[in-house]
Amino acid sequence: MSYVDIDTISLLEIPKISDPDGRGNLSVIEKNVLPFIIKRVYYLYDVPSDSSRGGHAHKELKQFIIALSGSFDVVLDNGRTRRTFTLNRPNKGLLIPSGVWRELENFSAGAVCLSLVSEHYNEDDYIRDYDDFVSSK
Ligand code: TYD
Repeated sequence: MSYVDIDTISLLEIPKISDPDGRGNLSVIEKNVLPFIIKRVYYLYDVPSDSSRGGHAHKELKQFIIALSGSFDVVLDNGRTRRTFTLNRPNKGLLIPSGVWRELENFSAGAVCLSLVSEHYNEDDYIRDYDDFVSSK
């Protein structure tokens, strides 16, 4: 697996439609916005503030993560460098390519982490050992 240039990863703006009569916002993700077909959707919630999630990389799976509510940090690691992204708006998302180690931490009370992903659940696609991840590069 080759190194992913972590500097090319950034938060993406999700279109927001603000109601002209002050009835709030609506955000939408249509089929062609992401560089993959969404095969699965899952979400994390009720995560204690001192817990972390993730702690793995994927061989093939690509993922788009949104803080639907509250906030949390996503630490990305390409095997050489790390970058931390704070997700705290429902109209910003983080596109994580395959081959990147991720840790999700610092969950606020009430945080909901929505994941839109490119593959069905397949444990064989996970690299759960950090040393294995680094040596796969
Ligand atoms: P895991 O991927 O380790 O969660 P996280 O990366 O958020 O910490 O998954 C936790 C458990 O849930 C693990 O036993 C696998 C299971 N799981 C499914 O059965 N289907 C799914 O789509 C996902 C994401 C996880």
